[in-house]
Amino acid sequence: MNSTIKDIQIIEIPRVHDERGLLAVIEGATIPFDIKRVYYLYDVPSDAFRGGHAHKELNQLIIPLSGSFDVHLKDGRDTEIVNLNKPHKGLLIVPGIWREIDNFSSGCVCLVLASAKYNEDDYIRDFNEFLAFKKA
Ligand code: TYD
Repeated sequence: MNSTIKDIQIIEIPRVHDERGLLAVIEGATIPFDIKRVYYLYDVPSDAFRGGHAHKELNQLIIPLSGSFDVHLKDGRDTEIVNLNKPHKGLLIVPGIWREIDNFSSGCVCLVLASAKYNEDDYIRDFNEFLAFKKA
């Protein structure tokens, strides 16, 4: 699995703006996978730590619908921290990237669009196992 931090991108979600507010739309070519699952985190304590795993095949787009949080990314060699704080900017995380999420703002809502249904077998929850997976 040779994905790297460089494969991770911020995706700008197209918006329609008029005097009634903003409407953001995700469809078709906005994201490079078909959405098979949607879930969201809310009522997250500010000192919570989420993630702490990688996926073997799953692609995800993480969107801070409200508030902000930090996503720490690791590819086994390089590390990057991305602060997500705009509801029209999502973070595309490809398979084979370790992620940890913290520094949740009060009342924050984190929306996740995923390319497959929930499957625990797709998770790597041990960091050493992740490093071995990256070397394989
Ligand atoms: P997990 O993916 O570890 O959460 P996070 O990365 O936000 O820390 O999932 C937490 C728990 O919820 C775990 O027991 C699996 C379960 N879960 C589902 O049942 N369905 C899902 O779609 C997701 C994402 C998690």
